[in-house]
Formats: sequence, C-alpha cells, structure tokens
Amino acid sequence: MPDITERLRAAGCVFAEEEAHILHESAAGPQELEAMVARRVAGEPLEHVVGWAQFCERRITVAPGVFVPRRRTEFLVAQALVLAPESAVIVDLCCGSGAIGAVLAYRLPNAEVHAADVDLTAVRCARVNLGDRGQVYQGDLFRPLPANLRGRVHVLTVNVPYVPSDELDLMPVEARRHEPRFALDGGSDGLDRLRRVAGEASAWLTDGGSMLSEVAEHQAATAVSVLASGGLRARSVTDGDSTVVIGTRQSARR
Ligand SMILES: C[S@@+](CC[C@H](N)C(=O)[O-])C[C@H]1O[C@@H](n2cnc3c(N)ncnc32)[C@H](O)[C@@H]1O
Repeated sequence: MPDITERLRAAGCVFAEEEAHILHESAAGPQELEAMVARRVAGEPLEHVVGWAQFCERRITVAPGVFVPRRRTEFLVAQALVLAPESAVIVDLCCGSGAIGAVLAYRLPNAEVHAADVDLTAVRCARVNLGDRGQVYQGDLFRPLPANLRGRVHVLTVNVPYVPSDELDLMPVEARRHEPRFALDGGSDGLDRLRRVAGEASAWLTDGGSMLSEVAEHQAATAVSVLASGGLRARSVTDGDSTVVIGTRQSARR
C-alpha cells in the first residue's frame, strides 16, 4: 500500500493515500490492482478505473467515456428535493450516468423518474443506476421523451454542458482526455444547450414545476435571463461552490 500511494503521488494524485485505499478495496486481487494502478498513474480518472463515483452517499456506476458526476452537483440535487412533491414526475435530461435521477428516485420512492442522454454509453450507465426505478431514453434533449410527459413534469433537472468552448483547454487534463467533448462544451458562452432547453421547458413543466441547471457563477445572470426568455420565473442560488439556475413555470391562471 505505501508503494501504491507513492506511485500515485508521483503521478500527481493529490489524494494519493485515499485513492490507494479505494483501489485496494475495489480490486479483486493483486493482478487487477496492478492494472488499476497503472491506469490511474497513466491519468485515467479514478472513477473510470474503479467503475463508480460517490455521489450523494450513493455509489454511481460510471463507465469509461461517461462524464464523472461531480460532488458540487449535489447542491442541484438538494435544490431539486426542496421543490419536488412526494409523488413528483421527474425528468433528468443530459443525464450522463443518471446520477441525479438515481439519487432523486432513491430519495423520493413515490416519484416517477425519466432520464435521457444523447450518448448511448451514458444511457447504458443510467439504466444500471436507475434500475427499475426509472425509464432512460437516448436522443437529443427532449426529443426521446414520451409525449404524455408534456405539461406533467414537476422537476426537470438538466445539468447541461456549460464550459465555454474557448475555456475547454483550461480544464484538468483528466476531463479533457477522458470525458467526451460533447459532455463539456457549451458553445461560445457555455449556454448554447441551456438556451435550447429553456426554449422548450415550459411545454413539459406542469404549473409550478421547475427546471434546474448548474452553471458557473459568472454565467448566472445571463442564465437567469435565458430562463426568463423561455417564459419561466427565474432565479439563481449558490452555496459558494456551486451555482444553480431555477426556472419555474407560472400558473396559467395568474
Ligand atoms: C455535464 S454532463 C452531465 C451529466 C450528468 N447529468 C451529471 O451531472 O453527472 C452533460 C451530459 O449532457 C449530454 N448531452 C450533451 N448534449 C446533449 C444533447 N443535445 N441531448 C442530450 N444529452 C446531451 C452528454 O452526453 C453528457 O452526458
């Protein structure tokens, strides 16, 4: 173990001791452990090497090539839980591994959960993580969702790619090499995908239903106006580390 910790530290792993422990626990034997350490030392994200990520106290399956759920996104989940009724209809778009939808399904046992992503590898992961607690579809944004969800959604979580294209090179090398560009690249100001979602969201939300998206702090003001242009009552919330924009469909009777 000290040897593994040293190899990880030399490769630049900041939490080398913790990672050595996780690798040790995850490997079935010495050969697999050596293979895992080699992958990690070569720069593969720990979560891809061991096949899971810790997210909201749950182990989320993450296959190589799928966006690794970030701990900061737990704030979006917490905001969604504040807004969701007990028997909520929940849609997790751009679901990646399905981490958000899976945690919401677990925390709200009576909720009806749907998730979708354009990427088949992500969809396969999300199916594992949601199991029999939700349906997962493949396709562009809202397109693959069943039409009978229109106007019925209480909570729409959409962790869109939001990194501005010219900031992708500033991302950690792990993300640039091992997560697909389409999972990160949000276009020139990072909000291209959010604009598309906001343009359609109110057609899917029920009266009083909300969409929630994570953005960078500096994008919050623009993102709020993007949601407002989609006809939603919009605001942003932050815990200092993570910023989430929330757009709520106002009652048609108001
Ligand atoms: C930032 S990741 C978020 C993944 C997951 N929600 C999470 O928080 O861990 C963005 C995801 O959006 C998906 N995506 C990108 N463009 C999409 C589109 N046009 N339609 C559906 N999904 C898309 C990517 O495949 C990726 O899984």
